Amino acid sequence: MTTLKWWQTALFYQIYPRSFADGNGDGIGDFKGITEKLDYLKGLSIDAIWLSPHFPSPNWDCGYDISDYCNVAPEYGTLDDFKTFLEESHKREIRIILDLVLNHTSDEHAWFLESKSSRDNPKADWYVWADTPPNNWQSCFDGEAWTYVPERGQYYYHYFMKQQPDLNWRNPEVKQAMWEGARFWLDMGVDGFRLDALGTIYEDPALTPHDVPMTMGELRRFSESAQTEEEKALVEKYWFDMFKHQWGGPGLHDLMKELRSIIDEYDDDRMLVGEDDNIDYMGDGDDELHLVFNFPLMRTEKLRPAHIRKNQKERLARLDKLPTRGWGCNTLGNHDCSRIYTRFGDGLHDAELARVNAALVLTLRGTPFLYNGEEIGMTDHLIADPSKLRDTMATWYYEHLVKEMNVDPAEAAQRAGEMTRDKNRTPMHWSNAANGGFSPANVEPWLPVHPNHAKGINVREQHDNPDSLLNYYRRLARVRKQIPALVEGGYKPVHEKAEDYFAFLRFTEEQSVLVVLNYSARHHELKFNIPGKKTARVLFSSAGRSRKDQPLSHFTLGAFEVLIAELG
Ligand code: NOJ
Repeated sequence: MTTLKWWQTALFYQIYPRSFADGNGDGIGDFKGITEKLDYLKGLSIDAIWLSPHFPSPNWDCGYDISDYCNVAPEYGTLDDFKTFLEESHKREIRIILDLVLNHTSDEHAWFLESKSSRDNPKADWYVWADTPPNNWQSCFDGEAWTYVPERGQYYYHYFMKQQPDLNWRNPEVKQAMWEGARFWLDMGVDGFRLDALGTIYEDPALTPHDVPMTMGELRRFSESAQTEEEKALVEKYWFDMFKHQWGGPGLHDLMKELRSIIDEYDDDRMLVGEDDNIDYMGDGDDELHLVFNFPLMRTEKLRPAHIRKNQKERLARLDKLPTRGWGCNTLGNHDCSRIYTRFGDGLHDAELARVNAALVLTLRGTPFLYNGEEIGMTDHLIADPSKLRDTMATWYYEHLVKEMNVDPAEAAQRAGEMTRDKNRTPMHWSNAANGGFSPANVEPWLPVHPNHAKGINVREQHDNPDSLLNYYRRLARVRKQIPALVEGGYKPVHEKAEDYFAFLRFTEEQSVLVVLNYSARHHELKFNIPGKKTARVLFSSAGRSRKDQPLSHFTLGAFEVLIAELG
């Protein structure tokens, strides 16, 4: 495995800094807290952390509206706290990648304040300005995408909220300023970046209007009310058509090449992962991004074997076409979507399915990314009191429902609680103490803590319980590290028609490993015909199988069983 790069063999863990660990007891996560938890992450075999934005921000979009790219949000600590965190991580051989938000800044960033002050200031052309809204483009967070500024008597463009003006990436000064920001952290020793929303950096230069016969607010309501298959298909088409001219404009490949060359100036050990699923952004495999996420895997209502097989077939075929063998990147959750445990549960076997899905991410071909809290089975937390919501999208939505749609406040609160991303960003549960041990009992954390922290969904209790989900993740992560075929091997599906279980081989020249994931409550009598192989030595079993050889000619797969076995 020596020829592989660290980001190919690493197990990544996404930290949402506001919610991970509150070191100074003020109700908000911070670097002191994260640093104190590094040994916990080491114990989970984590090799790299993707840190969601930690920069100063007015927090309209929870940190994704940055007002200074070269500093630390005061609530998270100081630059020195960051340096300590980086140093302590590196001491433990944990790499750190940061979130690089290129498309937009905060409207409180000094660049925007200057740009909006007049039509002829030095940064007048740093954002996207127009005398009148040139089209009907919408902000994906609601409302028009063009907002008026009286100082200039002009409108600026924002794909996200009006507090997140889009930068004008056709202006070379913008590039230079942003690259300086990136270098600031690279010089300090960070190991790379996760690139936020890169598809939105360039728009259609012809500014072509969308042809969807409704506004974004109306489309949201139409999506909620769609019942029939036809309506649902139309909803999907409308979402795509509404934004298709605001995405993927020309220039992005050149921009990614430019950023890659900066990264490569440091050493070939820094990396870039794009918040996009488009493999084209990996260029020739060596000149753009190192990784893009396999979002199509998680973009499904139910994770079922047929979906996973189809996803792997398509993805890996595309990756294998790259001149240098492309590397996959699998994840099932992040700060933008419902938690894995809730989303991919069936209401009856959520705990079992969470284990099967953990095994999926850790055994598929490609680099795995976990989202903080999934290892203890954190679930979505529906926040019933709208005054406690912090995701602006949801507070706006609540007000819109109550004030403009005359929806009953209780129903509006329920709907806002379901749509918000707050539900999957609540504080990490460190123990069964008040506030889940995240903050002291007398402090109100920035988002409410899920009460189920007192029912075993916390690190402290799971640490002590050998059968806990946490210890299951720990075991799986260790097994993955010890088996070269799982990290670098090829992939081949077997029993491709099986509806209930997903079985596949991971193999190198020296080693063949069979992985079987039973997504059902049914037992299965299985027989594998794998040329030249007769037995399977159990490396990992969720059913407590002993480590001895298992005949391949016949064995019974238990309900929701996960089996990883080396073939001989
Ligand atoms: C993608 C981020 O993951 C999301 O949280 C954010 O709201 C948007 N980009 C805008 O930056």
